[in-house]
Amino acid sequence: MRLILLGAPGSGKGTQAVVLAEHFSVPHVSSGEMLRREVASATPFGRRVEGYVASGELVPDDLVLAIVGDALNAAVHAHGYILDGFPRTLSQAERTSDVAPPTGIAFDAVVYLSISDDRARRRIAVRAAEGRIDDTDPAVVERRLRVYHRETGPLLDFYRDRRLLRTVDADQTVTHVTRSIFDALIPDER
Ligand code: AP5
Repeated sequence: MRLILLGAPGSGKGTQAVVLAEHFSVPHVSSGEMLRREVASATPFGRRVEGYVASGELVPDDLVLAIVGDALNAAVHAHGYILDGFPRTLSQAERTSDVAPPTGIAFDAVVYLSISDDRARRRIAVRAAEGRIDDTDPAVVERRLRVYHRETGPLLDFYRDRRLLRTVDADQTVTHVTRSIFDALIPDER
């Protein structure tokens, strides 16, 4: 299974990616997690991207493509992957074939976790207690939402036009969202 999870900050991409990765026995490739690990380890790469992540801006495409490409190449023998948080711009989507493993990156589907900004804000506010670098300042949260609508919103039409988009109502319990994803992907799976 090769799946992209698309959705606003707080829509549940990471939560659902964990469940789907386990179900399909494929790696969970999260661009945000990889970037945060680099920042936390204070690697040279981490120092280059820290300002972007902390302020809620997107990390430049070339840097993201490098780190995601490595992860996808590592996952090539795992019969797929759940991509969480990538691609996030039209340019990343168009350039994805550049970072694809030798077998190509013909996605099975793109799952769009649809949620209102207000619900997303509330979820992030709850998680803020955990101290994630970009959750605690409301201004940063607003920037993440603005950047999402401006930069990632156009991907919905991009994948809809390619008949890959499956829209799921993300404003349900975690279990119900998972079930809706399976319904959207493989109706006989339950
Ligand atoms: P990234 O890590 O991708 O964060 P994000 O898109 O802002 O998304 P979140 O992690 O906040 O939310 P999520 O949709 O994963 O939801 P989650 O499951 O965590 O990116 C962070 C930053 O890295 C970016 O701002 C950017 O700087 C950089 N970056 C990353 N990728 C990049 C790229 N491709 N290009 C450029 N820059 C990039 O859930 C949120 C909360 O809600 C959790 O507490 C969870 O427990 C809870 N929750 C989840 N589902 C439910 C539910 N159904 N009901 C109730 N609560 C729920």
